[in-house]
Amino acid sequence: MAHSYDQSDAEEEKLHFANVIATFQNYAQYSLSANNRRRKDLYTLPKADQELLIALGYREKLDQVDQAIIANADFLSEVVADPEIFGHALGNTEAESESSATANHHSHEHVSPGHTHSHDHSYSHTHDGTPQRRGRYKPTDFDMDKLRSTLKQFVRDWSVEGREEREACYKPMKEALLTHFAEIPVSERGCIRVLVPGAGLGRLAHDVAGLGFTCQGNEFSHYMLLSSHFILNRTEAVNAHMIYPYVHSFSNLASSEALLRPITIPDVLPSGLPQGVDFSLVAGDFEEIYGAEIKADEPQAGQWDAILTCFFIDTAKNIVNYLRIIHKILAPGGIWINVGPLLWHWENNTTNDPSIELSLAEVKELARAIGFRITDERTIDTTYTSNAQGMLGYVYHAEFWTATKV
Ligand SMILES: C[S@@+](CC[C@H](N)C(=O)[O-])C[C@H]1O[C@@H](n2cnc3c(N)ncnc32)[C@H](O)[C@@H]1O
Repeated sequence: MAHSYDQSDAEEEKLHFANVIATFQNYAQYSLSANNRRRKDLYTLPKADQELLIALGYREKLDQVDQAIIANADFLSEVVADPEIFGHALGNTEAESESSATANHHSHEHVSPGHTHSHDHSYSHTHDGTPQRRGRYKPTDFDMDKLRSTLKQFVRDWSVEGREEREACYKPMKEALLTHFAEIPVSERGCIRVLVPGAGLGRLAHDVAGLGFTCQGNEFSHYMLLSSHFILNRTEAVNAHMIYPYVHSFSNLASSEALLRPITIPDVLPSGLPQGVDFSLVAGDFEEIYGAEIKADEPQAGQWDAILTCFFIDTAKNIVNYLRIIHKILAPGGIWINVGPLLWHWENNTTNDPSIELSLAEVKELARAIGFRITDERTIDTTYTSNAQGMLGYVYHAEFWTATKV
């Protein structure tokens, strides 16, 4: 449930934000030192073994990885070059302001400040996130893991290589949206308000806005917010950046090329959305922003014509509350379109947070009990930020459905 947002929350949040920035800034040192471990290990081997490995080009490979890490670090330092905009936004204790969401598409220049949350979750089970209070923050392995996941998230959302993976989910969602509103002329789509909670790096929300709908993404991870802000507002050319997302682990790779594969981003120019398109990203916790008791100035109830959740509902601690909020804020006859697995993010957390973990059948039964009519159910096999050239790949049997508020 939403709790009231006080001064200590604001401070906690500022501290957490500063720690995320420190993680970006420490990336080079941390990653170069991890690679240097390999170099040192090489030199502990018997001379004959070293010679064999050097003849394979192993030492050159380590040098190339260093170069790739430095290139990644240059990119990441650009992402956090201008964090003040966020600093101000995060210092704000007011919830999301509607004004930012009603301007034209340049409004996404301002990621509007809802309440951000002091935990960030990439798609993993691990939990941690206690901000340190004294001295210079030393990023943990957990922090670095999130940053490395963020690099892979860029591939998913903003590269040619990620197209197949993201479209496996985004395309059926966009098709269901277009089908539901097929009667509305294209010129009037701007009147239809679409919400994308857990928007990640913002591609789905961007593409929905590109279809002419009014679209608002919501996201609470500072890693995601800083990165989406950079790509949406500070990137002026297609393929402006080159990153090396796969240089951090040598496991399960068929070749050095798979390890050193560069990815260029973005594949489209985000600022190329048509004039007048209403697209915004709101920073903050979904439950706090959209589930707060209805305020006089920002009634969320019944305000959204469509809600698109992609790999999101399993981020709930209490799925009942997520579904209730989605139901409450949908307009009568509104549509909820979902794709995703049920990798309950808070399962086995170490922070004593509650976690309710339902089966797919239970989630659907719950949704019906809350007042949804579920249709168009199917399974979509898809990867999530996987290295397409790796020797290991996880495939989610993600569940797709559309649901209308009855
Ligand atoms: C698995 S990712 C999916 C991202 C994106 N929808 C995609 O398909 O690429 C889940 C996202 O939800 C965000 N998230 C988790 N809990 C949230 C919350 N309570 N409020 C807002 N965002 C949240 C995470 O930070 C993460 O970016």
